[in-house]
Amino acid sequence: MAADHKENQEQEKRPQVMRAGKLRPAPNSHDLVRFSVAMPEDLLMRFDHLVARRGLAKNRSEVVRDLVRDALAADECDTPGAIVVGTLSIVFEHHGGVQDKLDNIQHDYFETIISSIHVHLDRDHCMEVIIMKGETGLIQDIGNLILGTKGVKTGKLVLMGTGQYI
Ligand code: NI
Repeated sequence: MAADHKENQEQEKRPQVMRAGKLRPAPNSHDLVRFSVAMPEDLLMRFDHLVARRGLAKNRSEVVRDLVRDALAADECDTPGAIVVGTLSIVFEHHGGVQDKLDNIQHDYFETIISSIHVHLDRDHCMEVIIMKGETGLIQDIGNLILGTKGVKTGKLVLMGTGQYI
């Protein structure tokens, strides 16, 4: 009961706005707003299967919120100048000085590359996961530089929003 009373006091301090014909506290970013969504029944059934797979802690609303955050984070990655995080996974030849070339690139961009993990896959191949944080265009440029290095056989760059705005 004490917690409810405190919450009421906090609501009373907030500016008042007209909502649904009554003077109410202005919404803050944590207020939940309900809206209805229409979709084909079979799509909704498939969505409910996805919700079930996410486990008991997630319901339809939680999963919709996750999907909206995913879409906003993906949009952030496409926005020039946005600060994002990127993981670049590569597989490359152990021989032929490839490691030296990759190390030189990583030293050139030490301010953006925040960590890396090296795995010796077999006698001839290494894997590295390079974690970066910085401006989206710069991370893509560094990714292309590393992926374009002779001896790098395959790789993939994945960009993510930092979660700051979602
Ligand atoms: Ni190795």
